[in-house]
Parts: sequence; C-alpha cells; structure tokens
Amino acid sequence: MSSEEKLIVLYGTETGNSELLSMDICKGAEDLGMEAKAFGMEDIDSEDMLSYSRLVIVCSTWGDGEQPDNAMDLFDYTEGLGDSDLANMSFAVLALGDTAFDLFCEAGKEWDRVLEEKGATRIAERVDCDVDYEDDAEEWIEAVLETLQEL
Ligand SMILES: Cc1cc2nc3c(=O)[nH]c(=O)nc-3n(C[C@H](O)[C@H](O)[C@H](O)COP(=O)(O)O)c2cc1C
Repeated sequence: MSSEEKLIVLYGTETGNSELLSMDICKGAEDLGMEAKAFGMEDIDSEDMLSYSRLVIVCSTWGDGEQPDNAMDLFDYTEGLGDSDLANMSFAVLALGDTAFDLFCEAGKEWDRVLEEKGATRIAERVDCDVDYEDDAEEWIEAVLETLQEL
C-alpha cells in the first residue's frame, strides 16, 4: 500500500492525551481494515506529510492559546506552504483543551484553518474537547473512521 492510501495521524501533545487518542484512532482504523500510522508532530519529516492523502490531527493547546512544543515546527512549516500544496489531502482535526482558558482549543482551531487554507479537504467538522474529552472524542473518532472508510 502506498503512503497515498494510508492514514497518518499526527499528534501535538505535552502530557500525552493526544497521543493516546491517536493510538485509539490507529487501532480503530486497523480494525476496519485500513492501514494507519501515528507520529508525534516532531517525529515526522515535514515534507513526508505531503505524501499522505489522509490526515487526522489530534492537537492540544498550551500556554496561552499556543501549539504544544512538539507541534510548533510542523505548524510553522504547514503555514508556509503554498495555497494548493495540500490539494490532494483529506483531513480532520480533533482539538483538546480546557474551557477555563480564554483561547479554548486554539491550536486545534489553527490546524483546522491552515490545512483548509493550503487546499486540503475537510472530511469532518472539528470537535473541540474540554478536559473530560473521552466521550466526545470517542464519538468523533467513530464518525471520522466511518467517513474515511467510505473514501
Ligand atoms: C499550563 C497549561 C496551559 C494550557 N493552556 C490552554 C489553553 O490556552 N487553551 C486550552 O483550550 N487549553 C489549555 N490547556 C489544557 C490542555 O490543552 C488540556 O489539558 C489537554 O487535554 C492536554 O492534552 P495533551 O496531554 O495532549 O497535551 C492548558 C493546560 C495547561 C496545564
């Protein structure tokens, strides 16, 4: 299977919640017969991201509405891409945060915006999860996997 057809799940995290959800997404995808791989955002060569046509982002927000440390370089790289560089990509974003902060889930919102700006096609509306994220995330993952299977 070429990387074109594989699902890549990229997580931006500080304390591991996004990573665990990414593992759940990969496991769910594999159970449905899809090939899927998860990487921390700092563990993928930025240009390699372009060779995938199915991307799920799971990203928390840190500081005051900022990207987690491991997401910053890939986010900057993606922001610097041309307007149609991601035209062959389908994507969905799962955002983690905490409503106690003014800039709730801002990092996930930025990913959702920038991927669309660079030409990628959104296949599911982003969900912004509060600290008790498990149920919302699980429901979103199920729906996204179904959509991916139909692509
Ligand atoms: C120091 C600190 C800063 C945070 N800043 C924000 C923020 O600005 N906006 C937000 O929505 N959530 C914020 N959060 C909440 C985290 O995004 C949330 O706990 C998330 O589940 C962490 O996921 P992770 O383990 O994948 O990093 C912050 C949490 C901490 C501890």
